Amino acid sequence: MKILVVGGGGREHAIIKKLKENKDIEEIFALPGNGGMKDDATLVNIGAKDIDGIVNFAKQNKIDFAVVAPDDPLVLGAVDALEGIGVPCFGPKKNAAIIEGSKVFSKNLMKKYGIPTAQYEVFDDMEKALSYLDSAPIPTVIKADGLALGKGVIIAMTREEAKDAVRSMMENKIFGESGSRVVIEEFLEGPEVSVLSFTDGNVVVPMVSSMDHKRAHDNDEGLNTGGMGTVAPNPYYTKEIADECMKTIFLPTIEAMKKEGREFRGCLYFGLMITKDGPKVIEYNCRFGDPETQVVLPLLRSDLFTVMKATSEGKLSETEVKFSSESACCVIVASKGYPVKYESGFPIVLPETDSKSEIFVAGAKCEDGKLLSAGGRVLGVTAVSDTLDHAIEKAYALTEKVEFENGFYRKDIGQRALKALKK
Ligand code: AMP
Ligand code: GLY
Repeated sequence: MKILVVGGGGREHAIIKKLKENKDIEEIFALPGNGGMKDDATLVNIGAKDIDGIVNFAKQNKIDFAVVAPDDPLVLGAVDALEGIGVPCFGPKKNAAIIEGSKVFSKNLMKKYGIPTAQYEVFDDMEKALSYLDSAPIPTVIKADGLALGKGVIIAMTREEAKDAVRSMMENKIFGESGSRVVIEEFLEGPEVSVLSFTDGNVVVPMVSSMDHKRAHDNDEGLNTGGMGTVAPNPYYTKEIADECMKTIFLPTIEAMKKEGREFRGCLYFGLMITKDGPKVIEYNCRFGDPETQVVLPLLRSDLFTVMKATSEGKLSETEVKFSSESACCVIVASKGYPVKYESGFPIVLPETDSKSEIFVAGAKCEDGKLLSAGGRVLGVTAVSDTLDHAIEKAYALTEKVEFENGFYRKDIGQRALKALKK
């Protein structure tokens, strides 16, 4: 069997490594992948947003199954295009990927079906948004409607900051057309939990929960990033909360999408906040999270390809999806200066890993057999162990052995989770 994985970051590397456990898979193509994956997949020099390029490649290479991992190609309709030439896929069609592609869509969906989320208003007229902010409760949250590389959310602590955020999105178009419409929403408080799930449109199977660390520096200081590290499971996600989420959020979302004629098949990511009024949806993503995947998939005990195929065929209810009861920690090693300005091209030497650790490569290229940095987030160093304490210790011990002079990493990944466990 030949498998195509669209995407090129640490998440895709984690997916590829897990898929490789299936012995029926002869070859995995990573499109475009990155130099750090070359021992795990055949790299294909086509951009992940080049839908025609993806389709032509799949046709010429007789691909048996495709996994479309990033948001952009999903929202652009890569799955529709591939299925159109008879290639079965893991990932939602364009009309379902809109759950991430448009915040206005997802907020309106939640309102219509009574799914708990922050109160909000939608604006496509800047003056109306600004005058609403004269009396809106502060702090408030401003969100660009469309995709914005995970940066389209601004938490405003003052009225002036809120107005600046609206102007920057709607007038200065810092996120391009994604900011032509904005959502202004209630500021919620509470611990955040990421829950990735497999869903075939009928049943929803949550994966082990996880916790992201979005800020660039220790103690949650610095700018928001794509994620500087993760742990799984998330101690705030208790059995009671999980049951409540299934009843009030997960099943209602799947049902709502079906009723709207937008059946969702693939990985649906629930970004949740556990507020004092119960769990609420902060965001939906139409894909695996990055770097959540780097701690969730190493804990998966079932065969990933079998689960993905069942998801795409609508047969998830007949398939066992099992997770280990261990814990995992992933420390992201980024280029100094990320998420603002950083240099690339620095040599990287990776240490040996054992059966309970992995290094996923996110931003690197390979030149003359040498690995060189080529991005902001460069590596995801993951360790699995019986306890969270030990997984964290092991992930850091491995991270310290990485040779990469332009790299930096947070020293406190998992500390928030450990504190919660000790409460
Ligand atoms: P998003 O890109 O939607 O995941 O938002 C990025 C981050 O902004 C989230 O992980 C939260 O920490 C924060 N955030 C988003 N919406 C809200 C909200 N309504 N209240 C408080 N924080 C929020
Ligand atoms: N780690 C957050 C995301 O993948 O959107």
